[in-house]
Amino acid sequence: MATISFARGVPSADLLPVAELQAAIARAMEQDATGMLLYGDPMGYPPLREWVGQRWGHDPAGVFVTNGSLQAFALLAEMLFSGSGGRAAVEAPTYDRTILTLKRFGATVDAYPLTEEGIDVDALEAAIAAGRTPGLVYIIPNFQNPAGNVTSLAVRQRLVDLAAEHGFWLFEDDPYGDLRFAGEDVPRMYDLDTAGRVIYSTSFTKTVAPGVRAGALLLPEELRKGMAYIANQTYIGAVHFAHAAVAEYCAAGDFDRGLARVRPQLEERKDALVAALVQHLGGRFEFRAPEGGYFLWGRLDGVDTDALLPRATEAGVPFVKGSDFFVDGSGTDHLRLAFSAVKPGEMDEGVARLAALL
Ligand SMILES: Cc1ncc(COP(=O)(O)O)c(C=O)c1O
Repeated sequence: MATISFARGVPSADLLPVAELQAAIARAMEQDATGMLLYGDPMGYPPLREWVGQRWGHDPAGVFVTNGSLQAFALLAEMLFSGSGGRAAVEAPTYDRTILTLKRFGATVDAYPLTEEGIDVDALEAAIAAGRTPGLVYIIPNFQNPAGNVTSLAVRQRLVDLAAEHGFWLFEDDPYGDLRFAGEDVPRMYDLDTAGRVIYSTSFTKTVAPGVRAGALLLPEELRKGMAYIANQTYIGAVHFAHAAVAEYCAAGDFDRGLARVRPQLEERKDALVAALVQHLGGRFEFRAPEGGYFLWGRLDGVDTDALLPRATEAGVPFVKGSDFFVDGSGTDHLRLAFSAVKPGEMDEGVARLAALL
């Protein structure tokens, strides 16, 4: 029985732009072999920094390209917390690797409930008033991992205002923002920020391919030197070989063509998943269908998803259990279903297998 995996937040192989990347690698080698094959700038491959700066509206001198956005975040967490400790605030639930990374570098992680609008800003404000001001607030504003929700403009504005008032860094982790298939974009916190407290993070994992390991931060002036230093100490320079190919891919217009191709396919997968959930689980599974991204998050009434997971894995339908996304291990009746890697024709079978276990 072939596995139908709802676990990994990756695209299926048929969504990868294989031919376009093959051509981009060849062109990059023709045009800039030495740039690709030697060590380079610790801030990243210059042509890709230029492209990112133009697309996301930032001085290329402050664009920091790394081997995936998780590495960028890890370098920042190391710089801010290692040896000194401090507080970081996250949404509950949030991306599990962020929690682990923050803890690894010695941060105390405070989690604030995620509402339909975004992080509970009242709770965050009350904690600040009580003396628990974070050094960093980590937010996934679009198609959140795992919850799939989008932070409202009002919450974004309040976060930006709080960052300006209390001097914390506001990390806007946005790997999914370009994968909207319904509804309207909400302005980035980066664009609302006038105090230079927002660090915007983007990644090519979900928009090109995970294996190119390319992500970028838009860094405020104050953090640039420190991040370049820590990158240099960690790996001298990021993988220019891959990043030159990504730069070529983007410059040729394949980035936008790729998005236009993938968005409707993701929507089709989401629709197929929703239809299968309604058919096989009816009212037992509470969820809200996302307007973009990779994930559908929901609550299985009265089911312990920690206990369900090994059985689901054995039945060839792994998912990610809710408790992985909470600092305190709560969320045990929740689960995250990634629809990105499951073809529409397999969705019904996958959900039927899951339903049969209940
Ligand atoms: C919210 C979030 N941030 C960061 C990452 C890591 O992405 P990258 O592959 O760019 O390191 C992921 C990957 O799933 C993610 O969901």
